[in-house]
Amino acid sequence: MALLSVQDLVVRFRTHEGTIHAVNGVTFELEEGERLGLVGESGCGKSVTNLAIIRLLPKPAGRIEGGRVLFEGQDLLVLREDEVRDIRGSDIAMIFQDPMTSLNPVLTIQEQMVETIQAHRKVSKEDARARAIELLAMVGIPNPAARLKSFPHQFSGGMRQRVMIAMALALAPKLLIADEPTTALDVTIQAQVLELLAQLTTKSSTALILITHDLGVVAGMTQRINVMYAGFIVETAPTAELFARPSHPYSVGLLHSIPRLDEEGGEELIPIEGRPPDMRRAPTGCPFAPRCAWRVEACWTNNPELRPLTEGGPVVMTGPKATHRIACHNPPTPNEVRGGRPLRAGFTAAPPPAEMLDELSLAPAEVTADLKGLMAGIQVEEGPLSVYPSAGGLPIPPEPERRNDGL
Ligand SMILES: Nc1ncnc2c1ncn2[C@@H]1O[C@H](COP(=O)(O)OP(=O)(O)O)[C@@H](O)[C@H]1O
Ligand code: SF4
Ligand SMILES: [Mg+2]
Repeated sequence: MALLSVQDLVVRFRTHEGTIHAVNGVTFELEEGERLGLVGESGCGKSVTNLAIIRLLPKPAGRIEGGRVLFEGQDLLVLREDEVRDIRGSDIAMIFQDPMTSLNPVLTIQEQMVETIQAHRKVSKEDARARAIELLAMVGIPNPAARLKSFPHQFSGGMRQRVMIAMALALAPKLLIADEPTTALDVTIQAQVLELLAQLTTKSSTALILITHDLGVVAGMTQRINVMYAGFIVETAPTAELFARPSHPYSVGLLHSIPRLDEEGGEELIPIEGRPPDMRRAPTGCPFAPRCAWRVEACWTNNPELRPLTEGGPVVMTGPKATHRIACHNPPTPNEVRGGRPLRAGFTAAPPPAEMLDELSLAPAEVTADLKGLMAGIQVEEGPLSVYPSAGGLPIPPEPERRNDGL
């Protein structure tokens, strides 16, 4: 039995501006001790997925509108509030981007750590204090006995995040969810804190969900990656496999937009163009279609399910042999993955159907301009062009360069 099994999770926000379709049927599992990365641009539903798992969605707007979250076989979504609180304190811990949101500014670290430990374990105050010192030492806080007396604001950002890790691990949780834990820290401190997180979770066999918008961060930290886009998982694979064979146009775009340590000569970094879709619209078709150079007609109306990259055999959901799956009607070939754009002679990204133009005109101005051009009858020449001047995030190079691709 998986430690965590999230099944078809749907989360929406009911706001004055309408319904936000934040998470649109997310399914994944996690084994004991497994480290999973959850990656995607800001706003794609990473935090909301995890807040739903631990039932901490902002109320009353945030609602779980479908699915199940089994933790050790028990559905967390049907538990009473106090039962969930118990699990949250002891079996599942969470670290957020800004530790100040989780630490109480008017209590010393000692008061907070001792209180946390005593709330869940029957130990004396002295023993809890000794444990707190041990934990602070473990996360690399110098002179821990003295530092226990400090208030949160007396620590630097990096040290505060170390305190949070110590507090999260104080109760030896089975699952730790770290939501952009190092985003607010400067780069060298980021590396140290991540290293610490990896070390400690590995040592204590704590399962980890590491949320980040930065693929570079998960590379060395996780064993498996879910790539999220617009509230969907669009690609999932063991980490090494994902980096070796990224297969969804969005993942391809993401990988071309981060520095690769394994490539000489510093390949040019190309940010993904365009913006994620407006989550106020109910998803129809593939959510990546407006930004995707590989799209075919079906992409506009039919959202593909996650399917194994190579058919055959049972789907493995967890572990190093997890099945590489993508949600895509027209996956890039390996050559196109390297090139970052479609290379099939004569292939043109399918223009949006006429009935969608109105809807898409809600999109950023530049998309609208492109669409207007299209409507005015501008002919798309043969070769890799898209409505959006971006191929899975990669701008189409000018004509002479394109001819060198062995078309
Ligand atoms: N409290 C809220 N009220 C309304 N919408 C929200 C709220 N929190 C998040 N959302 C929306 O839900 C979607 C997913 O957000 P989130 O999970 O925070 O993204 P991220 O991947 O950056 O963590 C976004 O469109 C965001 O605007
Ligand atoms: S090819 Fe189609 S299904 Fe695949 S990512 Fe592009 S738009 Fe989505
Ligand atoms: Mg977030």
